[in-house]
Amino acid sequence: MAAGTRARSTAGPTGQWKATGSRLALLPLRLFLGVTFVYAAFDKLSDTHYLAGAGDAASFYAQTKAAKGSSPIGWALGPALDAPTFFGLLIAFGELAVGLGTLFGLWGRIAALGGALLSATLWLTVSFHTTPYYLGNDLAYLMAWTPLLLAGTPVLSVDGYLAARAERDRGRGLAEDAVRRRALLDGGIAAVALGGAGLLSGSLTATLGRDENAAPATAAGTPGATSPVPQEQNGGPSVPAAQVPVGGSATVKDPASGDAVYIVQPAAGQYAGLSSVCTHSGCAVNPPKDGQLYCPCHGSKFDAATGAVITGPAVKPLPKYTVTKNGDQLRLGPQQKS
Ligand code: FES
Repeated sequence: MAAGTRARSTAGPTGQWKATGSRLALLPLRLFLGVTFVYAAFDKLSDTHYLAGAGDAASFYAQTKAAKGSSPIGWALGPALDAPTFFGLLIAFGELAVGLGTLFGLWGRIAALGGALLSATLWLTVSFHTTPYYLGNDLAYLMAWTPLLLAGTPVLSVDGYLAARAERDRGRGLAEDAVRRRALLDGGIAAVALGGAGLLSGSLTATLGRDENAAPATAAGTPGATSPVPQEQNGGPSVPAAQVPVGGSATVKDPASGDAVYIVQPAAGQYAGLSSVCTHSGCAVNPPKDGQLYCPCHGSKFDAATGAVITGPAVKPLPKYTVTKNGDQLRLGPQQKS
């Protein structure tokens, strides 16, 4: 008898810990995905470049256009190029809805399905050709959504609360139809409330949160471009030197490849051309800021003077071009051999 009691008391706390651990096992992943998707949504909505359109090399339009040629679903990206503002907002608000639904555990499987679809879309368009494959974060996100898609969000969540209440309703003899209707109705009310809060905060961020003074990442020669149109004389395109301040840039187009190139002046009187095409997976890097060019796709950073990689996942420097100054004009020369 005493031995049996001792055995139970040893197994009790351990068993409880194990049971609690199993119950909460998906909570860290859920918090991470929820916070990340909310953050990603606000990051897009507050980014001046994101909805800037065809004239901005860092815009949703430019990134989609760059992906169209190499993506295995490039054939399906036409509508996104025809209505980039709509699709850009759809992705940003989709991420917000997915993030909030995941954080609050409201209709968790639907939120996880949305997250998986968004991650699959980004993988097939942005990071499909990343080598080796494990450096492409969208594939990792797609895999991370799978456990939540299978298990839902039953713990510390609105779903959990509604399920427990449904059990109580059944216990007091309420008909199954009525139990389901009540859960669906209250879940719908919670979704409308949460969706409304997300829509309001997202819209306010998109309207008020953008830095309107940010330098446009303009791609000269692209429809709607706002940068000075380069003059092509004696070969390469040129821009007035006055339009390239120290630490800033102007954008021209490489006549050979058609890629946008930043003409930069990292120090007074020092000029160079740096390709805007990220060497990691082909996204357009942002124009120089604080001595660096940042790639919004996976976070690579490049030195604004040399194009060298500061932070990966990119491993190769940005291709460099010679730039010559003739009077008050800066002319782009050929790409330098690496
Ligand atoms: S495309 Fe991946 S970091 Fe630039």
